Amino acid sequence: MPTIKERDREVIWHPYTPMKAWPEAIAIVRGEGVYLIDEDGNRYIDAMSSWWVNLHGHSHPYIAQKVSEQLLVLEHCIFAGFTHEPAVRLAERLLEILPQGMRKIFYSDNGSTAVEVAIKMSLQYWNNKGIKKKKLVALQNAYHGDTFGAMAVSGRSIFTEAFSDQLFDVDFIPFPGEGAGEESIAALESLLQKGETAAFIAEPLVQGSAGMCMYNPEVLEQYFRLCKKYNTLIIADEVMTGFGRTGPLFACDHIQTAPDMVCLSKGLTGGSMPLGITACTQDIFDAFYDDDRTKMLYHGHSFTANPTICAAALASLDLLLMDTCTENRARIIKEHAAFAESIRTNPSVATIRQTGTIIAIELKTDTPSYHSSLRDVMYRFFLDKKILIRPLGNIIYLLPPYCITNEELNYIYDCIREFLIGKNPDL
Ligand SMILES: Cc1ncc(COP(=O)(O)O)c(C=O)c1O
Repeated sequence: MPTIKERDREVIWHPYTPMKAWPEAIAIVRGEGVYLIDEDGNRYIDAMSSWWVNLHGHSHPYIAQKVSEQLLVLEHCIFAGFTHEPAVRLAERLLEILPQGMRKIFYSDNGSTAVEVAIKMSLQYWNNKGIKKKKLVALQNAYHGDTFGAMAVSGRSIFTEAFSDQLFDVDFIPFPGEGAGEESIAALESLLQKGETAAFIAEPLVQGSAGMCMYNPEVLEQYFRLCKKYNTLIIADEVMTGFGRTGPLFACDHIQTAPDMVCLSKGLTGGSMPLGITACTQDIFDAFYDDDRTKMLYHGHSFTANPTICAAALASLDLLLMDTCTENRARIIKEHAAFAESIRTNPSVATIRQTGTIIAIELKTDTPSYHSSLRDVMYRFFLDKKILIRPLGNIIYLLPPYCITNEELNYIYDCIREFLIGKNPDL
């Protein structure tokens, strides 16, 4: 009998995978809390929440129960001209907790589509009002997804290189890293002053794919205030940062000024199923509310607001809003901070940074890029230790499900220390 991974090799093309160099995928047959269990019985700690989606652990029985109940009632129905309780209830509950000013929820399928919708809303908003604002501003090295609009507002990189001629023009401002906040804010202001910018889009506080690059809430606050001053819409891409990753429920909760649109996905269903949301203000909705049908938003997907997936999201919200989840996040934040202190002066560590439950360790290397030679060495090292970490180049990061225990965290920390020592045998 061929194994799953042998059969896989015949028929599957995996995402973000150099198929020639990595012909073999690990076949997972079961998920249980923070563990992914493969066909040989190996148990891997999912230290990156399966691409940042999982909040409460794999195959959570409560989410599974709510999903199976919903499947027997209404598995799916068209969402144009029809509606259903799970979608309405989820919208009501999200609007209660989202940053202030959000009034409407537009459903789509994933993070990229949530961003596409926000881009379309921004451009058409001004078009519908008869005002010529067509430019978008984004941060250098941003990542907002893999569809064309989302790629256009993402930093130009190896991810987008093959399509560079097809991507529309976007103005990029410098990333506001250590000491670069003022320059970045000034760059934004000089662009906004021209009066041509439809919207500014950013990953608030943490740029995920760029390497878990972090910046101060004060900078985010300044960006948002400038956008208000110059009448530019703000898109907060909380696809990764949403649902508690940075501590509070949303990264925008760290500041006072609210965005005009918030994009959500990943943790929205606790990581159990794909769903995207673009939340927006009443003002944006009103710009499309017209007798003139050319002003409506021409966007939708076959599975928009799928009730089964909405049921998963509602169940995940129940778990997220429990005190135990808040306490778990606070515990992870504390553990990460203590670990960061313990390795801060390690000679192999270039920088170590933390925002909420996300910690990133940048290692010294001669090849500091996404394709750093260290990357594959680290990936293999941690897999051998039965830990799933996907380093971003020379950057190791942890972004665990909130149910991870201190014991599991300490095992991961110890393995990271072991790797650092191995890299410097004279330590
Ligand atoms: C900030 C951000 N926006 C958008 C996306 C795209 O989400 P998806 O992979 O669900 O299309 C990602 C994915 O990593 C992301 O991190």
